[in-house]
Amino acid sequence: MSAPSATLVHPARAVRGTLRVPPDKSISHRYALLASIAAGRTTIDDYSTGADCLSTLSCLEALGVNVTRTATATGVQVVVDGRPDGFAVPRGPLDCGNSGTTMRMLSGLLASQPFTATLVGDRSLSGRPMRRVAAPLTAMGARLDLQEGGRPPLVITGGALTGITHTPEVPSAQIKSAVLLAGLRASGHTTVREPAATRDHTERALAAFGVEVTRSADGDVRVGGGARLAGGLSLLVPGDPSSTAFLAVAAAGLPGSAVEITDVGLNPTRTALFDVLRRAGADVTTTIESTRHGEPVGRVRIAHGAPAALVITPDEVPLLIDELPALAALATFTGSIEVHGAGELRVKESDRISALVQGLARLGADVDEFPDGFAVRASRRLTGGTVDAHHDHRLAMTFAIAGLGASGPTTILGAEIAAVSFPGFFATLDRLRA
Ligand code: S3P
Repeated sequence: MSAPSATLVHPARAVRGTLRVPPDKSISHRYALLASIAAGRTTIDDYSTGADCLSTLSCLEALGVNVTRTATATGVQVVVDGRPDGFAVPRGPLDCGNSGTTMRMLSGLLASQPFTATLVGDRSLSGRPMRRVAAPLTAMGARLDLQEGGRPPLVITGGALTGITHTPEVPSAQIKSAVLLAGLRASGHTTVREPAATRDHTERALAAFGVEVTRSADGDVRVGGGARLAGGLSLLVPGDPSSTAFLAVAAAGLPGSAVEITDVGLNPTRTALFDVLRRAGADVTTTIESTRHGEPVGRVRIAHGAPAALVITPDEVPLLIDELPALAALATFTGSIEVHGAGELRVKESDRISALVQGLARLGADVDEFPDGFAVRASRRLTGGTVDAHHDHRLAMTFAIAGLGASGPTTILGAEIAAVSFPGFFATLDRLRA
């Protein structure tokens, strides 16, 4: 294997500017997956060009779904011709790349297809837990075989499904979505009883495709079997608030900074970060300008403010799960952070607790690792140094942002993995340097 490339990040005085961030990864996956089973043609503008969302498209193509991609003035348009009467039997394994969302949500669609498919992933995805999706889909009537420890490759044989009521062991939008997608083709009703609320893009996207989804006051999400999804939709994906997180943290952390991000998704299950940034002393304004296919969209402005110490409690974790690494970077500027109840971070694209703590320590941070979280203390400015991205896009970007506040340069090994969710991240960062 060749050595990972090295990306150099120099300290910055401030970041300033107005920009759009790449299209939302979670919404892109869902629009493509739902379009693949809808009747007729769906057009998706500003589909994410991140590697994860491209994995979803190539898996759908391997299942006989006709997908075309065209460059437009603002991004990429994807056109999907749905196969409501079933996918084609794939000729080989379906490669989900680095994308857990692809593997888990696609399993929900494959659970009712009368053939066997093998879902594989890269080294990182091959180590991630899949029992959490295999258990409910098996209970519904599909067969799923996993490797030792419940890891991929995941071999799934679809069948006739029966609706269930499922309570995931951990709050997870991916698991909720997989079960709901399977429920569309099951007899009776399928209910997911969420232990804590998670992002609700699947519910909103299903409604946009004409499917009735109900949510009870105590958090039960329910779909009925036999739903036909409407074709002919023209969808437009907003910017990804989780990508905003890295730039927002840079603006919050560096004195004299102000960044405005336009056309970004402001779904309330994705905006907890902005509330936390306010708590950390930043000056944050969010403005909803429209609602697109049930998703609030608008702009957010983040400016530096007096820093404060942050404590993230376990009940806050599910709606901040992707933003916790970025918040750790914020703490390296001037504040501090302590996070508990985030053990789930250990089974993301890397063990995000251990890799984050080790990486920040190498850059000079005063850190602590807990089984279910971490702390970054406010005692000193980072020095910079060399860190490994651990094949994890969010860690590559976290170390880059932390490096902006260091006294010396930071070298990130394997930083190109940032393109999983934020193609052009390093060029964007350079543009924003004041
Ligand atoms: C996602 C849900 C989250 C998140 C991931 C994307 C989604 O995972 O970490 O980046 O699109 O549903 P879990 O639902 O497994 O926590």
